[in-house]
This record gives sequence, C-alpha cells and structure tokens, in this order.
Amino acid sequence: MTAEHRSQQWYAGEGRDAYIHRAWMRRGVPTNAFDGRPQIVIANTASDLTPCNSHLDEVATAVKGGVWEAGGIPLNLPVMSLGETQVRPTAMLWRNLAAMSIEEMLRANPVDGAVLLGGCDKTIPALLMAACSVDLPSLVVSGGPMLTGHHRGVPLGCGTDVWRLSEEVRAGTLSAEEFRLSESAMIRSRGHCNTMGTASTMGSMAEALGMTLPGAAGIPAPDSRLLERAHEAGRLAVELARSGRRPSHIITRESFTNAIVALAATGGSTNAVVHLLAIAGRLGVDLTLDDFDRIGAKVPLLVDLQPAGRFLMDDLYRAGGLHAVLREVQDLLDPAAITVTGKPLVDYLSTAQIWDETVIRRRADPLQEEAGIAVLRGNLSPDGAIIKPAAASPHLLRHRGPAVVFDSIEDLRARLDDPQLDVDENSVLVLRGCGPKGYPGMPEVGNTPLPEKLLKRGIRDMVRISDARMSGTAYGTVVLHVAPESAAGGPLALVRDGDPVILDVPARRLKIDIPDDELRRRSPNEATTSAYAQRARGWEQLYIDHVLQADRGADLDFLVGSSGDEVRRESH
Ligand code: FES
Ligand code: MG
Repeated sequence: MTAEHRSQQWYAGEGRDAYIHRAWMRRGVPTNAFDGRPQIVIANTASDLTPCNSHLDEVATAVKGGVWEAGGIPLNLPVMSLGETQVRPTAMLWRNLAAMSIEEMLRANPVDGAVLLGGCDKTIPALLMAACSVDLPSLVVSGGPMLTGHHRGVPLGCGTDVWRLSEEVRAGTLSAEEFRLSESAMIRSRGHCNTMGTASTMGSMAEALGMTLPGAAGIPAPDSRLLERAHEAGRLAVELARSGRRPSHIITRESFTNAIVALAATGGSTNAVVHLLAIAGRLGVDLTLDDFDRIGAKVPLLVDLQPAGRFLMDDLYRAGGLHAVLREVQDLLDPAAITVTGKPLVDYLSTAQIWDETVIRRRADPLQEEAGIAVLRGNLSPDGAIIKPAAASPHLLRHRGPAVVFDSIEDLRARLDDPQLDVDENSVLVLRGCGPKGYPGMPEVGNTPLPEKLLKRGIRDMVRISDARMSGTAYGTVVLHVAPESAAGGPLALVRDGDPVILDVPARRLKIDIPDDELRRRSPNEATTSAYAQRARGWEQLYIDHVLQADRGADLDFLVGSSGDEVRRESH
C-alpha cells in the first residue's frame, strides 16, 4: 500500500531524480523516512503580523508529535498568512492569493496529507479553498479564540466592543483616555477574536463541514486541550493519507446543509456566506445564495454571543461548545454528511450536553425563532444582497426611507458628520464602490457609522446598504454584499439622494421606489465611477479583472474548481 502514496512519485526508485528528492530532505529524519511513510505537511499560517495566529508554531509542534507517533513524517510549511487588523486595504483582497499560493505549494511538494493551521478570519477559508482544489487528504486545526478580557468589570468582546466604545466616544459618553485604556484588556491572550465574528464562525464552519476533529471547534487558544487535539490531528492526518479520504469525500452538499444550520444556530458571521460559496465552488458543489436563506430559515438562534448577544467564545466552549448547539437542532442536520474520521457528524452529538443554558439556549427557548441569513432581491440587488436579521433592529426590518448616498468610504467620512447633511433616523445610508472590484477587495466597511448629530440624539441604528462586507463582529440593520456591485454595473450605482428605498426583510425585498424606465435612463455619474479602484499592475490588476461577485463567493474566475493533486513533470 505504501507505493500508493503520492510522495513515492518523488522518493521511490534508484534514479537520479529520486536521489535528489531524498538526499536534500535527509536532515535528521530516520533513514526509512522515504520508504513509503506518509509525508504530512503542516500548512502553518503562524506570523507575527497575524497576531491571532502567532501561537500556531506551538500548535504545529503538537501536530508533529502526533504525526511521528502514527508513523508519518511531519513537515512544517509556512504559508501566506493574513492579519485581519493589520493589512490594508483589506485582508479579503488576498484571500484568493493565499488560497492560490497554498494550493500550488500543496500540489508541487511531495506530500500525502495536510494539517491546516488557521485562525484569523481569512486563514481558514484560504486553507480550505486550497485543500479542496488539490483534494489532498486534510483536516483543519483552528488556533482557537482568545480568553475574555475585562475592563472596569465589564467583559470586552473583540471587535464588537471597539465599535460600541468608539461610538460612545463620538457620542461624548466615554473619554478618549478610557477608550485607550481598554485596548490591552480587549486583547487579553493569544488566539483569534473571541466574539462570534468571522474567525470563530469559520472555525465552527470547518467543524460543521466535517473538516476538524469532532469537538475541536472553539477550544480557546491557551487551553491545554487545544494541544491535545492538535496531537490527535497529527495522528489522524496520517490515517487520512493512508485511507485516501479526501475533502471531496467529506465536503458535500449535505455538509453545507450542516454548515448553514450551524451558522444560523450560532448567529455566525455574514462573511461565512462568501467563504462557503467559494469553498463549494472549488469542489463543484452546487451551492447558491438562496440555499442560505432556505436552509437557514427554520433554524433558531441558540447562542447568546456577541456581536448579537452577550457572551464570548470562552463561555460557549464552557457551556458545551458547538456540539451542544448542534444537538438541539439535530433534526435539521443531514445525517449523511461525514467528518474526517469517516463517521457522520451527527454520530458525535449524542453525548453533547448544555452546561449553561444562559449561553446555549434550549430549542424550546431560543433567542430568536428564525436566525438564518436573509437574501434580498429587487431592482437594487438583482443578484442578491444579504442581511442578518438576528443582528438588526426589529423595527427597521420593514422600512421605507430616503437614500443618502456616498460614493466611497472617503466620501462618507468627509460628509457624514456635517451638521448640514440632510439626514435623519429614517434615512437609508447607501455606500457604494466598496465591492470586490470597486475597492478593491470588498472590505468590511458596510456597517458604516451613524451621523454624529443622530448619535447625540440617542439614535443607535439605521438602515444601511452597501456592496461591501461587514466585520463579523459588527451588528445593526445592515444590508451587505449587494450584487452586482456598483463597479460591476450594478444598479446601486444609479441611486440618487432622496430616492425612496424600500427594505422589506419578511418579503425578502430591496428596491428603490422609482419607475423602471426612469432607472433605465440613468447612468452612473462621474463622482461615482471615479471612486472605483483603477487597474494598476500586479495582483490588484489580476484581482480586479477576474474577481467574481459576492453571490459567487468573490473567488477568482480561474480558481473555481479543482486541479487535483497530480503533477505531470519532473523538476530536473
Ligand atoms: Fe484576527 Fe479578529 S482580527 S480574528
Ligand atoms: Mg473581520
């Protein structure tokens, strides 16, 4: 069976090429390292500039122990990493670049399986997209969330409380000094954001898709159980390589059903929509935007976590973790979907328990009856837009109000707080030019701030519409991912100040209430189009020319699909 490992295409035989492949790798490994033992790569996104992942080298060491124990050869492969809070203009601009570079290195190297170490927002999506396109036996180990930090006796949620505290500063109810003091309380330990933001969500998605060890999602980064599971993940990776169980066997339409149920029940990030669509595209699974609405519609919100609720990831794990949540909605899960262990996800739920019903609610006592993401269509979003009703204000879910339009985030920042701006709490803030092509990279700016004069009057939410994304740690009545985006010819480019905008979430409608023929006669004005990103060179040009719209996961058109793990030619 050993000859079946793909690494043997490099290492087996007596020829010159096999000699070269083996000889350079003989630096402390056992002499029989290349005799057919599975070569397990640890795709490691540790980086000092991705602070959420900076502890992954320690996790990698634990994985290595497991690989050795099971008879494999562990190989650390530092891969492109994206620090959500650090890179400009937005980490999303490089999710596909990270996925592409990881894909190429997994395929190009003599490896039989992969352990994917991620955490911060884009890292797990990029790793999964890559692993799916190579279809190499793989599993994910998430670095886990950081511990809860407190400031003046109040727990601070990463991200979510930045928005809240900064609005308090603008409203004049918090001093700049207190704001500064809260920084190191918010980021208390190693690990990724501790709200149900994108990183926590994608860790849960990896588990719901079947791509982690069962029960591994959400173990806090400093928790010793993370290293135990990392060790086990190393062992399992060797087994996966031996059995040939691949992402395409695990991630199926059925597992996306489970992921969408998990997304709704946990109140996960809207960003999961673009990431799951992109992952599905890599495997040729026919997942659409409407599946999120349809499958998520019946799912109750059971987890009381920030940004929509009160608690943090540490609390979720203590209260029973993702399995305890999924057990409550087991009837909505697809029992056919398997995990990396080969057994169905649902098989692992029978022993799960809720230990704290304030954090994880019972099915009979949900936080909300219907927690799914709503997909909105109409003359403003022919290809769809999304809203997370669980994070919105109930009184704004049906709303009609005049548009106040901004052509860019700079335009918004320049005019939003102008006392002369014609805006009140019924206005609808429209931000455009912030989609995949327009910005470029579809940044997390959709949760625009509110005008200062309204904040001072106590207004805390308004309807906002954009072709951007929003941080998974944000909240509000925010319509996102409008497709097509303004810069791709979408009608969002045609909205004018004062146009009546209708948002009707129960009816899944988003439109401007002007006659169709008038809309057709309009064309975008110069101020709108000149705010779009200009093609320059390099990655940005490639990205703008090839990025798909949000309803297709914002992948690059030529990266959709899989090339498998085959490499036809030798290197010498
Ligand atoms: Fe890394 Fe939030 S900034 S997970
Ligand atoms: Mg984010």
